[in-house]
Amino acid sequence: MEKFDLIVIGSGPGGYVAAIRAAQKGLRVACVEKEKTLGGTCLNVGCIPSKALLHSTEYYHRVAHEGNEHGIEASDLRVNLSKMMARKEKIVAGLVGGIDFLFKKNKVVAIKGAAKLTSSTTIEVEGESYEATHLLLATGSEPMTLPFLPIDEKRVLTSTGALALTEIPKKMLMIGAGVIGLELGSVYRRLGAEVEVIELLDRVTPGLDAEISKTVQQVLTKQGMIFHLNTKVLGAEVRDSGVTLKVDGRDFVGDVVLVAIGRKPYSEGLGLREVGIQTDESGRVLIDGSFRTSLPSVYAIGDLVDGPMLAHKASEEGIAAVDIICGQKAEINYVAIPNVMYTWPEVACVGMSEQEAKAAGIEIIVGKVPFRGIPRARCSGDEEGLVKIIGDKKSGRLIGMHIVGPSASEMIHEGVIALEKRAKVVDIAHASHAHPTCSEAIKEASQAALGEAIHL
Ligand code: FAD
Ligand code: NAI
Repeated sequence: MEKFDLIVIGSGPGGYVAAIRAAQKGLRVACVEKEKTLGGTCLNVGCIPSKALLHSTEYYHRVAHEGNEHGIEASDLRVNLSKMMARKEKIVAGLVGGIDFLFKKNKVVAIKGAAKLTSSTTIEVEGESYEATHLLLATGSEPMTLPFLPIDEKRVLTSTGALALTEIPKKMLMIGAGVIGLELGSVYRRLGAEVEVIELLDRVTPGLDAEISKTVQQVLTKQGMIFHLNTKVLGAEVRDSGVTLKVDGRDFVGDVVLVAIGRKPYSEGLGLREVGIQTDESGRVLIDGSFRTSLPSVYAIGDLVDGPMLAHKASEEGIAAVDIICGQKAEINYVAIPNVMYTWPEVACVGMSEQEAKAAGIEIIVGKVPFRGIPRARCSGDEEGLVKIIGDKKSGRLIGMHIVGPSASEMIHEGVIALEKRAKVVDIAHASHAHPTCSEAIKEASQAALGEAIHL
């Protein structure tokens, strides 16, 4: 039986990063992947293809709807969807190939096939057995579905199907106004589809600061998305020609429906129960503060365990778990993990929302600045949205930063560093920010929180 120091199961951003880190530390490492390509959900059917399509459609939308205002007069503007999809696939293939290269460079052995645990130190892949001192589970997550709406990836889609449509639907229904619904809804809305979103709760992106959720809904409504909040789909009828969703007393008809109601940990066929690894009621593998499962030689990270289902969270955990396996100390500051939604304007948050801070009994200071007052945002025509800074009144420390606006995905890292370094709101307010940049909104919102805003 081939023996390793560490076998990682799953090659997503949790698993592949952990495997490389372990190899760099001198361990003999293998990484098992059941799909044809490495990279997991993120690279193959998640972060990367969705961002490629968001980028392409944003170009199109800008030229089609804002070009004239800039004096750019384009005629006969058309979308070639198959070319757009081919570009997306090329980007995915390039990045996936990059992981093959990195595995070879770092001497990580890639094993193809689905792994099953046979003991606390052994696995089986396609009839072959392998042994390792430590196992690291990084098998990710899968979409949640509705019992009355079986996925066929033709009319009833998960994000995977929605990333690979061959035609722009005339009307697209979405169940769930979370990140997937709003990102992929934006893609097809920009391409001209009617998009109607049905959300169970009373607001979109329910996990975010309430004011940010409200702003997101307002700007996406202006872009033509239609939202039905507090609405439960009770049944469905799927035909060759389309889908009807049954809501109390009302039918919603569309060409396709995207079911985006969350994701659940994926551990099918992994043999967890048989070897005695404990999970919670939703299937998450239970771990201690060192990523150890109920079997001390087996660790778990990423979407498979508790916490936000984000690629960078999985990677941080992969690195920390390997450091711990190698006898080092490692800790993750979960409060400082940013959360980004790549709609336009983008939405980026880190730290506590106003509601979370109040619920925790923290007396807060709040500073807000709309982008319409920021010169750079005026130049680019990105005047919607705001920056909201939340500080702890007593200590003066930043405890939350929330941005709806241009380049929010890049700007948020100022908040990440501030939280990591326990910086005060005054530190941001007094730091020089280049003019004209969108980041000036962060400085001004910090000044506003201190009652020192210049332009408000
Ligand atoms: P995964 O990436 O899911 O990888 C797990 C891997 O394990 C898979 O390749 C799977 O095939 C393999 N596997 C499972 N079981 C076995 C087995 N028994 N044997 C062998 N291999 C196995 N996050 C962000 O941070 N930013 C984004 O912009 C973003 N966009 C997203 C867009 C979409 C449409 C989706 C669906 C997700 C997005 N995410 C995003 C979430 C992100 O993709 C996940 O949080 C991340 O991929 C989790 O990484 P992971 O390593 O835990 O698992
Ligand atoms: P989500 O948790 O973001 O949103 C799901 C939404 O569906 C919620 O608003 C919820 O209230 C609603 N919902 C649940 N059941 C419902 C029902 N029966 N009817 C109507 N609405 C219902 O989940 P989503 O969008 O599926 O994304 C899954 C995960 O993937 C995210 O939580 C995120 O971690 C990750 N992701 C991250 C991205 C990013 O970082 N940019 C992009 C896409 C996904």
